[in-house]
Amino acid sequence: MEKFVIEGLKKLSGEVSISGSKNSALPIMAAALLTDEECVIKNVPALRDILIMEDILNTISVKTDFSQKNNIMRIKADNITSDSDDSELTGKIRASFLTAGSLLSRFGRTRISMPGGCSIGTRPVDLHLKGFSKLGAEISNEFGIVDLKSKKLKGGEIYLDFPSVGATENLIMAAVLAEGRTTISNAAMEPEITDLCSFLRKMGADISGAGTDTIKITGVKRLHGASHSVIPDRIEAGTFMIAGAACGKITINNVIPEHLRPIVSKLRETGALVVEKGSSITVENTGEIKNTDIKTMPHPGFPTDMQPQFMSLMTLGKGTGVIKETIFENRFLHVGELHRMGADIKTEGNSAIIRGVKRLTGTRVKATDLRAGAALIIAGLCAEGITEISNIFHIERGYYRIEDKLISLGANIKKELNH
Ligand code: EPZ
Repeated sequence: MEKFVIEGLKKLSGEVSISGSKNSALPIMAAALLTDEECVIKNVPALRDILIMEDILNTISVKTDFSQKNNIMRIKADNITSDSDDSELTGKIRASFLTAGSLLSRFGRTRISMPGGCSIGTRPVDLHLKGFSKLGAEISNEFGIVDLKSKKLKGGEIYLDFPSVGATENLIMAAVLAEGRTTISNAAMEPEITDLCSFLRKMGADISGAGTDTIKITGVKRLHGASHSVIPDRIEAGTFMIAGAACGKITINNVIPEHLRPIVSKLRETGALVVEKGSSITVENTGEIKNTDIKTMPHPGFPTDMQPQFMSLMTLGKGTGVIKETIFENRFLHVGELHRMGADIKTEGNSAIIRGVKRLTGTRVKATDLRAGAALIIAGLCAEGITEISNIFHIERGYYRIEDKLISLGANIKKELNH
């Protein structure tokens, strides 16, 4: 196992370029299964989750060719052999469940392993399954395998009790080849949904309302191959923005500013200087961080995936701030690790009260999930002394060579074997 070793309190300055969005590339890879023609997906980040998703597609004989150097993934699903119920693999990443909609749509049948929970929550898929049955699928869920079948999916009216990102994506992919019209109400509005829909439209799908809470789909007979470039990763961008607000002045290139609105506005509330210029954004620490309040919400609210990183910033802010986590039921695992670095945080249910302290001090901490790990990197950069972060495989799921990008900004961070 490997760890990051960080010597903190280095002033960061310079520029960093953002990779393609993991959470956009994964559903788009699943959408490529909707046609037997080749799809070319560009700006795909060479992350662990992407490589596992590629393996999962290969287990059902989907042809893939991923050039990690050029970040181009070619996918051709012209002879899918069996159900993707290779639970060894599909159990590794929850995003594998996103193939369900496409496989059901294309073949009228799929068996896929029921995704488990993870450290941040139980992560049920009830909204996915309820939506599939609204489209006429018969569903059984035994021995950890979800069995979906339907002679021909028929369009229908779906209302999501919660604007689930994954359920919205899966149900769009199930509806694009269904007979007739489907309406998804209370749909997720994240930029990754809009990106998926622009890819599907290039394939010939008839979709309107992407990015709003009501998405309308008219089923078509078939879809053809397409080429598409994935949007930049707004969460990677936000993570570097917080590093700039905490430790210096960083220009983040290759971003889409409107995807970062909630993060920009909250960082300005803390007193950070944020300047937008085209597809770049510069964030600078102005000497004092003032604490503020955060409530995570579905897009366009403040993203839950930025909550841990923002909490790290607030541990050194002036005054008290409250973070309310409304999306996941257990997304405060980083609090215990930040306590070990001297942070003053009290949690009560899904709220965390952060009182700024004068300094954080480095010690051994462990990443418990992807964004909690990113939060510990931010804290390590701001701490006096050496911080060692173990279980960094969590971090590498969502950040491509983050240590190289930080070193280029002046950070003292190394990856070492964890004996
Ligand atoms: C996506 O997960 C992202 N993952 C998550 O990013 C992100 O945190 C999340 O959306 C929210 O923005 C990918 O896109 C691969 P949800 P997803 O369905 O689709 C409940 C990261 O750090 N729910 O919107 O699984 C669920 O329990 C990851 O990159 C149901 O109750 O999120 C949760 O409380 C972490 N029933 C809430 O909805 C369902 O059927 C949001 O989940 C589905 C979800």
